[in-house]
Amino acid sequence: MEKKNIDWSNLGFGYVKTDYRFVSDFKDNAWDEGRMTQDETVVINECAGVLQYAQTVFEGMKAYTTQDGRIVTFRPDLNASRLADSARRLEMPVFPEDRFVEAVVNTVKANAAYVPPYGSGATLYIRPYMFGTNPVIGVKPADEYQFRIFTTPVGPYFKGGVKPLTIRISDFDRAAPHGTGHIKAGLNYAMSLHAIMDAHTQGYDENMYLDAATRTKVEETGGANFLFITKDGKVVTPKSDSILPSITRRSLMYVAKEYLGLEAEEREVYLDEVKDFAECGLCGTAAVISPVGKIVDHGKEICFPSGMDAMGPVTQKLYETLTGIQMGRLEAPEGWLKVI
Ligand code: PLP
Ligand code: COI
Repeated sequence: MEKKNIDWSNLGFGYVKTDYRFVSDFKDNAWDEGRMTQDETVVINECAGVLQYAQTVFEGMKAYTTQDGRIVTFRPDLNASRLADSARRLEMPVFPEDRFVEAVVNTVKANAAYVPPYGSGATLYIRPYMFGTNPVIGVKPADEYQFRIFTTPVGPYFKGGVKPLTIRISDFDRAAPHGTGHIKAGLNYAMSLHAIMDAHTQGYDENMYLDAATRTKVEETGGANFLFITKDGKVVTPKSDSILPSITRRSLMYVAKEYLGLEAEEREVYLDEVKDFAECGLCGTAAVISPVGKIVDHGKEICFPSGMDAMGPVTQKLYETLTGIQMGRLEAPEGWLKVI
């Protein structure tokens, strides 16, 4: 397979048009068989449900080239089931989970020339998504939908690669109790745009959102879950019904226990106790594990002992083990890698 002539090592996290995308339409209560197309444009009615009332959900995953030259994706069955949960919450039809995985495989295969080579530091980001297409003017769900998957080669999500991030406590809330914080819907990201632009203007890389009800507990950032390491080397991650159940985070908790012999706990994390942790990181498909060096709470700085130069030692081990599994350097647990 001849690779495209792309400067893989200098890619940022952006959109690059690749050759093929998968499309399937839902009409008369059924999904059609779907097709691969070279057309990257979407033409829909001016009154489409997605344009009026934001009826859209999505997923994010990656394809990797392993050390021995295979192309793999990481736990796509979990993305399939999370997209199904997201769809149900927004009254959208579920795209069958086995067909989701098959379509991901076929889309990556069709764009194999864009899967970055092993060791380049880049990966192929895969974006499955679904939206209401027919005219909707009263507030109600659409009757017709489109499901699509496109791919784009990407580099690191945060500029500066693995330099520890500085984040601030946001005064804006991300998700209401009993709201939609636990699903991957465009609406959760639309509402974070003002907060992230404001954070950047003030010199911060990201926002730490707190629970909207009491503003005492750590939730997540706009695009990743938190991981903390205690001074005695335990992994702690916030438990909340209003954060996205990150597949990276779930995988890291397993890796911490089963590969590294660490204690790993999912529990409520109070803002008050954050100053006592030794390390902090953001985890997600796009973020992988990005270290956090400093959290600023209205001018009051919480500086982690791991500092602003490099990842903390436990975070580093988690990072190496997870990426080692994804890139085929370490043996993966049964069912984690789907070979393309
Ligand atoms: N939290 C939010 C809000 C996200 O957008 C993402 C990205 O998908 C994550 C967490 C991490 O989830 P995952 O590890 O499944 O990519
Ligand atoms: C992902 O990690 O896949 C996401 O969807 C997060 C987004 C901020 C890019």
